[in-house]
Amino acid sequence: MRLLQLAFIVALTSGLAAIYIYTTGVSDLYGPNQISDEDLEAVRSLQRGFQKCVSSNGLGLQAVSGTDICEMMLQFPSNTDSKWRDPKTGAPEGLSFSYNLCEAVATWEQVRNSTTILTKEFIDALPNGWEDYAWRRINKGILLNRCENKTLCMEKLSLVLPEKPPYFPRQFDRCAVVGNSGDLLKTKFGKEIDGYSAVFRENGAPIQNYTDYVGSKSTFRLLNRGSAKALDKVAELYDTGKEVLIIKTTIHDIMNKMIREIPIQNPVYLMLGASFGSAAKGTGLKALEFALSICDTVDMYGFTVDPGYKEWTRYFSESRQGHTPLQGRAYYQLMECLGLIKIHSPMRSDPNRVVKWLPDRSTVAAARIASEKLLRRVGAGSGDPLGACSIIKKLVKGKHKGVSDTVYSAQCQPDEPFKIDFMGGCALTDLALER
Ligand SMILES: *[C@@H]1O[C@H](CO)[C@@H](O)[C@H](O)[C@H]1NC(C)=O
Ligand SMILES: *[C@@H]1O[C@H](CO)[C@@H](O)[C@H](O)[C@H]1NC(C)=O
Ligand SMILES: *[C@@H]1O[C@H](CO)[C@@H](O)[C@H](O)[C@H]1NC(C)=O
Repeated sequence: MRLLQLAFIVALTSGLAAIYIYTTGVSDLYGPNQISDEDLEAVRSLQRGFQKCVSSNGLGLQAVSGTDICEMMLQFPSNTDSKWRDPKTGAPEGLSFSYNLCEAVATWEQVRNSTTILTKEFIDALPNGWEDYAWRRINKGILLNRCENKTLCMEKLSLVLPEKPPYFPRQFDRCAVVGNSGDLLKTKFGKEIDGYSAVFRENGAPIQNYTDYVGSKSTFRLLNRGSAKALDKVAELYDTGKEVLIIKTTIHDIMNKMIREIPIQNPVYLMLGASFGSAAKGTGLKALEFALSICDTVDMYGFTVDPGYKEWTRYFSESRQGHTPLQGRAYYQLMECLGLIKIHSPMRSDPNRVVKWLPDRSTVAAARIASEKLLRRVGAGSGDPLGACSIIKKLVKGKHKGVSDTVYSAQCQPDEPFKIDFMGGCALTDLALER
């Protein structure tokens, strides 16, 4: 138990550092950490470009730098009417969101080079991968006693667990991720969407009867737990059976039964995602993340990202709750201005729209390298959170030759039922230690 707590703290404070250490074998975490003037300038240069980009493309959003070099605040105009209210407290959504630009630029780069499908190879490579990780990806995993009976766990995962990653970075050239926003009905994006080499959709979003607006092509579908439990309904929509279903949470006995007995012909996988903290959850963002891990370019349609939304609706059904539209909009703008995605919306409907003042690739690359150095000083300004952590120290002091150069993203379960976003970083730390 103590170890678990320790592991949790380690992972909490150093998820990103752990990945970094794992992938590069950095050994001087405690050595003099000289951040050169060039590196600082690289981050500042990104900030300047980013700020111009946000004010030219964000439809009223402004980016303001914060107190520390990496902090960036995205602010909505003060007269913005935040219609969404926290259902628990009734508080309106805030108009200012703070992000760590360094972390964003470094983490997304990892995603672009990572496999995001859970594989058997991945679980096998983790020390205690079956006991610690696999059982958590199985619903009601708690009854499995940490996979005491591994055969049983393997059986439960077998239908969704390929041996090796089925997709690789930049496998597809141009991709479109289509959200479920009611905004889609304002513009007929259908033909345009069908022109992409892969199209990603979410949950039970229908195509039939909406093709003028959402297109008809569908290559991947990201599913949250609720939708995945109705796998048959989702798959039923597509008799071609070509669509690949990606579950972002856990596998459930009901799903296994459906795959076996219906039978569902579509390939079904579990997603192995990176952790972005609370700023970035939800199926929409996971779909973008998945697309970014296998596509060269990613275009986004059907997210509520224009000012003045009246209601938070889906294109095929009534309004829904539990979303934070302003936060989402700010985060998508951040992604656009880091060159990760291009936004298409009713107010940004020209397919040839150019993202103005987009920081160029070399600026982003230089800032990313600098950010990785900065982030090595984990928790700068808050003492030495690693002081409490023998695992990391051992790793840092030990030799770690022969660390595999496969880049894995830190996996996590940002949603129910575990709320342990951070175990991924920890598992990777352990992995590097063992090898
Ligand atoms: C990601 O891949 C690109 C292209 O292969 C490479 O240039 C870059 O250094 C990689 N980044 C990381 C963090 O591994
Ligand atoms: C483990 O699970 C398998 C599959 O259900 C079962 O056949 C086997 O008897 C179990 N083993 C033990 C030791 O319980
Ligand atoms: C499409 O419209 C028809 C006729 O109104 C209806 O019967 C059918 O259920 C609709 N399909 C979907 C997926 O909404």
